[in-house]
This record gives sequence, C-alpha cells and structure tokens, in this order.
Amino acid sequence: MVKVLHFTYMETTTIKTVIPLQIPFLQPFIYKFVKASAVKFGRLMKLNEDKDIFGRCCLDYFAGDKDAKIIVNTDIAETDELPAEHLFRDFENMPSHEQAALQQARGDILDIGACAGSHALYLQDLGYNVTALDISKGCCEVMQKRGVKNVVCGDIFKFSGKTYDSILLLMNGIGIAGNLPKLPELLDHLRTLLNPGGKIIFDSSDLQYLYLEEDGSISIPLTDRYYGELIYNLEYKGKQSGEFKWFFVDPYTIEAVAGECNFKMQFLAEGPHYDYVGCLY
Ligand SMILES: C[S@@+](CC[C@H](N)C(=O)[O-])C[C@H]1O[C@@H](n2cnc3c(N)ncnc32)[C@H](O)[C@@H]1O
Repeated sequence: MVKVLHFTYMETTTIKTVIPLQIPFLQPFIYKFVKASAVKFGRLMKLNEDKDIFGRCCLDYFAGDKDAKIIVNTDIAETDELPAEHLFRDFENMPSHEQAALQQARGDILDIGACAGSHALYLQDLGYNVTALDISKGCCEVMQKRGVKNVVCGDIFKFSGKTYDSILLLMNGIGIAGNLPKLPELLDHLRTLLNPGGKIIFDSSDLQYLYLEEDGSISIPLTDRYYGELIYNLEYKGKQSGEFKWFFVDPYTIEAVAGECNFKMQFLAEGPHYDYVGCLY
C-alpha cells in the first residue's frame, strides 16, 4: 500500500492515484524541463482569520483543547489528520532527523514557518538568539504566549532587513515556495537574509515512494508538474484554508536547483520514511 507524509508529519495515508517512470539521477534534468514549462506560480497559503487554520488550531490547543487537529486534504492522498499535539512537540518527541537538524543551528537563527514555536523555544532555551517568523497571526500569538522572545508575523517573501547565521525550514518548510519553479526565488531571497558563512537547514521527503510498483519499479508521470508538488486544502472546525500549493523535494533535485542559485548542499541526516535533512551554504 502506498503512503504519503504531510509536511513530513509522521502519520501516513493511502494515495489516490497511480502513475508512470523516472529515476533519481534524472531529477536535475526534469527540474530544467519543469522550470522551462511552468508559466505561472500557484497560489500560496493566504490568510484571513477564518482561513488561519494553523493559528486557530494552535490557539485552541494552547487554551486546553488537547484533541484539536487539522484535517489535511490533498489532491493525491486520502484525507488525513494532523493533531495539534504534534505542532507542540518537545525535543524528545521530535523525529531523530529533526533533532539532528536542530543540532546544526548556530548564532542568530531565523525559524521560518515557526508555527507553535517548538523549534524556536528549544533553541532559545539553549541560549541562541532566535527569531520565529510565521504568516499566521494565531500562531504568532501562541508563540508569544509560550515565551518565544522574538516573534515576527509576516510572509517570508516580504521579510528583510536583518541577517542570520542559520535559517531553519523544518517540517518540510522548503515547501513554502509553493512549487518547484518558485524555489529559486525563495533561495535567492533567503541568501539576502544570511550572514557570510550562514546556512539554510531544511528537511523534506522524496515522494518517489508514492509511485513504487509491486515489482520494485517506480512510475512517475512526465508532466509539467514536479512529482513532489501537492495541492492542499486544510480544514479546522468546519472552516477551510482554500486550496494552496506546497511541495516536497528530493535531495537530487534540490541540490541541482540550489547549485543554480550558487548554493552547495550537504546531506546531513536521513529520516525513517524517505525524509532527510540537508543544509545549503
Ligand atoms: C507545517 S507548518 C510548520 C510547522 C513548524 N515549522 C514545525 O515544524 O512545527 C507550516 C507553517 O508555515 C507557515 N507559513 C506558510 N506560509 C508562510 C509564509 N509565506 N511565510 C511565513 N510563514 C508561512 C504556516 O502558517 C505554518 O505555521
């Protein structure tokens, strides 16, 4: 049975569609094809109060609703649930590859898409100067209430003016770019936020496993859409986020894209389910 992880969340669900061929070393070439053929960038996560799914769910959990959870709909997988509890995880309850990622962070740190602030709080407690950025007002309120000292409510694509030694994009935060063709724009922007010698630390998954056939071959369609791209619609207590794009990226492809943006990539750790941590410098 084929499974998908959401935002590198650990629960898995069944995939709806089945598909046709590709192998890892082809990824950089396929990326070029995708880049050349994509004309428009998709809609990114946009928020008003009702649509602030992460924020409303985190606020309720923080206020005592320990069963709060987000319903995760995508165009390729069965409906799944993301319990708020996972967003409030402490270091001991983080997957080992995420722990490995945090151990790479140094100096002034920017945590992008910080959500409930779990990574920011851990690093702040270690004595680092952490800025936690999130587009969700509700998440920012929760982070302030949890004691994160520097919270910035805003869109990463509009954030500028300060520079950092480490930039974190965890729980597949690199997907914030929306789709693969927009990744260079994100990386070019993040470069402007890095101090000399600074690093971007990220995790993601290779969704190739979704297309694994019983005979061990992999069947992925050669369309104008990179196979890691998904369309999400999140739900919380009857309200929906509306459709937005998010994507997962395999290590070969991100190494190629990052190379075009003059970043080098280091593979740092492997997770339990086709997920990995990398760093760009
Ligand atoms: C899957 S959650 C990541 C949670 C957190 N990094 C963790 O590991 O627990 C994605 C977060 O990214 C935030 N987000 C989405 N688009 C954003 C953007 N353009 N700028 C800043 N934050 C954004 C969302 O509000 C949400 O809190």
